[in-house]
Amino acid sequence: MRCSFASLALLCRPMVLMMGAALAGVAGGPGLAWADSATLRATRDTTIYAENDRLSNGSGSWIFSGRTGNNFTRRSLVRFDLSSIPAGAFITDVALTVQLNRSAVAGLETYSVHRLAADWGEGASNASGQEGGGAFAKQNDATWSYRLYNEANPTASPAWTTPGADFAAAPSSSAEIDSILSPYTFTGTGLITDVQAMIAAPSTNFGWILIGNEGSAGTAKRFVSRETSDSNAAQRPTLVVTYSLTTPGGACCLPDGSCVTLSSGACALAGGTFQGVGVPCAPGLCPLPTGACCLPDGSCNTLTPAACAAAGGTFQGAGTDCPGQNCPLVLTPFVDELPIPAVMQPTSGIPGGAAHYDITITEFTQKLHRDLPSTRVWGYNGSFPARTIEARRGFPVTVNWINNLRALETGQLRATHVLPVSTCLHGPDQTGQVPVTVTHLHGGHVADDSDGDPDLAFPPGQSSPTYFYPNDQQAATIWYHDHALGLTRLNVYMGLAGFYLIRDDHEEALNLPRGEFDVPLAIQDRSFNANGSLKYPGVWEEHTFGDFILVNGKVWPFMAVKQGKYRFRLLNASNSRAYTLGLSNVASFQQIASEQGLLDAPVPMTSLTITPGERADVVIDFAAYAPGTEIILTNSALSPFPAGGAGPDVPSVMKFIVQGQAGDTDSLPGSLREVPRLLETDASVTRTFELRKFFDPVCGHDKWLINGLMWDDITEFPRVGETEIWSWVNRSGVTHPMHMHLVSFQVLDRQNFIVQESQIVPQGPRTAVSGGELGWKDTVQATPNQITRVIVRFEGPAGTYPYHCHVLEHEDHEMMRQFTLLCDAPTITTQPLDTYVREGGSATLRVEVAGSLPTVQWLRKGAALVDGVQADGTVVANAATAEVTLSGVRPTFAGTFAASISGACGAALSAEVQVSVGSPCDYDFNQDENVDLLDAQQMAQVFVGIITAEPGWLDGDLNGDENADLSDAQALAQYVVLGTCP
Ligand code: C2O
Ligand code: CU
Repeated sequence: MRCSFASLALLCRPMVLMMGAALAGVAGGPGLAWADSATLRATRDTTIYAENDRLSNGSGSWIFSGRTGNNFTRRSLVRFDLSSIPAGAFITDVALTVQLNRSAVAGLETYSVHRLAADWGEGASNASGQEGGGAFAKQNDATWSYRLYNEANPTASPAWTTPGADFAAAPSSSAEIDSILSPYTFTGTGLITDVQAMIAAPSTNFGWILIGNEGSAGTAKRFVSRETSDSNAAQRPTLVVTYSLTTPGGACCLPDGSCVTLSSGACALAGGTFQGVGVPCAPGLCPLPTGACCLPDGSCNTLTPAACAAAGGTFQGAGTDCPGQNCPLVLTPFVDELPIPAVMQPTSGIPGGAAHYDITITEFTQKLHRDLPSTRVWGYNGSFPARTIEARRGFPVTVNWINNLRALETGQLRATHVLPVSTCLHGPDQTGQVPVTVTHLHGGHVADDSDGDPDLAFPPGQSSPTYFYPNDQQAATIWYHDHALGLTRLNVYMGLAGFYLIRDDHEEALNLPRGEFDVPLAIQDRSFNANGSLKYPGVWEEHTFGDFILVNGKVWPFMAVKQGKYRFRLLNASNSRAYTLGLSNVASFQQIASEQGLLDAPVPMTSLTITPGERADVVIDFAAYAPGTEIILTNSALSPFPAGGAGPDVPSVMKFIVQGQAGDTDSLPGSLREVPRLLETDASVTRTFELRKFFDPVCGHDKWLINGLMWDDITEFPRVGETEIWSWVNRSGVTHPMHMHLVSFQVLDRQNFIVQESQIVPQGPRTAVSGGELGWKDTVQATPNQITRVIVRFEGPAGTYPYHCHVLEHEDHEMMRQFTLLCDAPTITTQPLDTYVREGGSATLRVEVAGSLPTVQWLRKGAALVDGVQADGTVVANAATAEVTLSGVRPTFAGTFAASISGACGAALSAEVQVSVGSPCDYDFNQDENVDLLDAQQMAQVFVGIITAEPGWLDGDLNGDENADLSDAQALAQYVVLGTCP
């Protein structure tokens, strides 16, 4: 369990209360002895309503924040007039108090106040009743979209830059608000800084916005506004400002080494060191600052600005530290040869067959570039990237994953990570700094107990249960990597990833480039410190983009290629970076496979985008190039993809150098493997997932989530055998590679949309995907501001499986949830009936069944086969109705027939019927055990149409000439009289 939005009230209370206490301690800070104070009542307050940009409540008696039960967000705005505080005042304490008046749901919610960044107004709008619904805005009211509503011409109203108001991203203060109707107070240094700035520049005093928990429904709370009756005046929003007018000054050494005379409090606020009351500024009093200096070779040294300049370096600022400095490191591209990961050797069995592996995760150093000192990395069985597991369809593999991470320096099991861990994220909030690991086979059709459940990551010194990989899927380039909850980005960054190649007979029969011409390329970006260590930027990252691109563990390698075709298995194993790959000579290449196997035919292209987690197998043909030709594998994708802006954008990946040797010059097959399209009409369920950021009040950051829900909120329960459409609605400007465990899916189409009053409104046509996106996939690019639809047939074992964004920073934010695949045991809905059939006739045995992927097999009991029964043993799969027809029935058919019914899960069932076979001369229509005149009379009735002929013995067609007529009656009469069968 953890501090999710839903569980916040119960679990996070102690932590948040402690934070509150810490802030209050700071707030009481400097200058108290000289305090003066002012108690101010709000001079403006209102509420803005997210569902409608024309709602406000300027003159209402209450203001609202949080989210209503039906998911409407409200925020309240409040401003105080600070003109009574003298301009030179030194603020020592600020307390902003609001009176809770109504709280729909019991429990604590974290509220935060942020400083507003633009002017707004309070007009005459005045909601009726409980005021929760707001009122139409009047002149100069603030609304969700507008700062100062213009009644005559609403769309001309001055608007907020960002709907929902413009305010500082960092909260000035936070407080826990309970459901007890009492005053609640916000304090702390953030508010002190705000007020100090507001009195220094009164035109920037726009007040504050009060934001509640917008991550879940039903959190809204109501507070007393300034318009409440005078008898309640004490409950109006109140700001108590404590300040000092005297400045007990003294020398203050500022971080840049300069000296100014300030009060001790002002000195602290300026980040300086107070030298004592009355101490004058004098030369040499303040120490010369030092700071990080980036030297020309990319290394960093702590120097004074002057010494740094003398060394030709760039000073990074006073007080900066070398660790964490982004000193540009310069590495020469294309000087290291591309490594090809070796084949992983099993503990028993053979690579490419049934085998068992014990795979140990360890820490070691490895050279990642000629000019870079060795880098501390983590790997599986001692290499980064890991060795390739070779597997073959139909031959299962088992693995024990062992976490033996030990610090290189001490040999002790690691208790802390190498990279900065956020203990606010789900996972490390429980496991702390410990580098727990768990391995997932990405793209493998694997039961949940072998899937690498992120919740079950285990610490150094422990190992996994034996994981079972059935390999009952078609040939594909899949991969394995770490999946620890809240640590995946760091564990993969340290090196925990490798290829897993499934091969099969079908693919091998195709004569695709093989052996030395079949080359996996794992593409990853990384940043380094000058000492060679991996550099990961910080504790909380929205995404990370490295300075260098590594292929198979080397920075910008080169590869010597022969004159012919190569199959490159491209894997984007980067944390966040997308690549749009092309060749520097703009030659075309052919994509032959997507994540889950071969396409139906090669697709020619000159560029290909792969986002994190995606794979694409391409064939590049070097036959036409002269020896010595150099071709660079280029990258034109911006970061984040597609709009860029947070790069570095790195334009090259690796280089091919053509050698004068013949390679594989066979032509590619025109068709590869049939990819039957899943039909939209087969889908029984459509699910919609909104991909967007939410503010997380616990961690104090924006967080990427799916539908605003968390890992433990399971709301998708598909059933085995059913087909569903999953619709990824990307409400952001970046592509999210959405990955589902267990299944292969197909991408249907993409469509634009707009958001109108919180509703997703599709715009324009759905555009079907093409080319490589028509193959079987497990990761899809959910493109910005579009709806991307995939169609999935759920097969395979019931269980609970993750689905998530494969930008690893997003995944760790909790843009990762789980679905539970259900499976229904087989049942019989209609029992088969005992059947009588006359010799030579035919009979249908029929059973109706339900359940997940039911299979029905009809067999004759006690005998393997019934001679002449063509349909005996027929298997009818996926059928709710399963029939077998016996035709040309003979006496030996008589006996017991059994339908055995099995399904994807649950115990098998069977149902039995008796088939009895009558003589061809069975004219005993009235079943009185003898054939006589009464039967002939009944027969006669058939001909006059009184009895409707039934199939089987009462069809009246005694001579088998396909109609019942007079000659049949004659035949019967003849039998009754002569005792002979016609
Ligand atoms: Cu490659 Cu759930 O991940
Ligand atoms: Cu994402």
